Amino acid sequence: MQLMLLGAPGVGKGTQAVLLVKELGIPQISTGEMLRTEVKNATPLGLNVKKIMHLGELVSDDIILKIVEKRLRKPDCANGFILDGFPRTIPQAEGLSKILHKLDIGQLHVIEIVVPHAEILRRLTSRRICSQCGRVYNLLITPPTEQNKCDECGGNIIQRDDDTKETIKHRLEIYRESTAPLIDYYQKKQNYHCVDGLQPVESVFDDILSVRVKLAQNRNGSAISNVKLIKT
Ligand code: AP5
Repeated sequence: MQLMLLGAPGVGKGTQAVLLVKELGIPQISTGEMLRTEVKNATPLGLNVKKIMHLGELVSDDIILKIVEKRLRKPDCANGFILDGFPRTIPQAEGLSKILHKLDIGQLHVIEIVVPHAEILRRLTSRRICSQCGRVYNLLITPPTEQNKCDECGGNIIQRDDDTKETIKHRLEIYRESTAPLIDYYQKKQNYHCVDGLQPVESVFDDILSVRVKLAQNRNGSAISNVKLIKT
């Protein structure tokens, strides 16, 4: 199954993707995470995108499409994958569609996670990550057991440099301008589902899984579903 998690920064795409990896046994493809690894390793690509990411701008469509195609060609994607934070522009969505066609990959199911902006701001300013393994924490709901130390690998807990109030606001503007048009784009393609991300992590996860159940029950039908009707 090919899933795409769509939504503004901080709605919980990464959090849900990690749970889905465990449940479905398919890989998470997070363009943000891939780029952060390049930055951390100071590769030519990392040096190229570091400032762009720091400012909360979008990396160019060409670069993103190249790294995604390379990743989707890997054998672990053969049984499906979870796209997290990609595509983020209409040209990326069109590029993705060409890649899926070229690699003979079946239908993509888009799950939009919706959270009001005030809550996003609260979540992102209290988000912390492990500098070593990337595990995501939240000081308000899931702090590390030992202060500043990752429960998983013992790495240092840090704040992402794009998680400052100003940069978060800028990322939300960019989302509104460049990424939100994808909602309409995918709604028209009839493979779009919408989930209320304001619920606790487990309930959001249950809703995403119920989309999967619905799809399995209705393999032959087209699938526009709103698991919950949400007012934004
Ligand atoms: P990326 O890493 O993709 O950042 P993002 O889209 O801004 O998403 P986030 O990681 O901020 O949020 P999330 O939705 O994953 O939330 P999370 O689960 O962590 O991209 C970073 C940068 O890379 C971009 O700005 C851009 O420069 C570049 N980039 C990446 N992809 C690109 C592309 N395709 N094109 C161009 N440029 C690209 O949760 C957030 C917090 O909330 C956590 O603390 C979590 O614990 C908490 N939380 C999660 N769920 C809940 C819940 N249900 N209730 C309460 N708290 C919750």
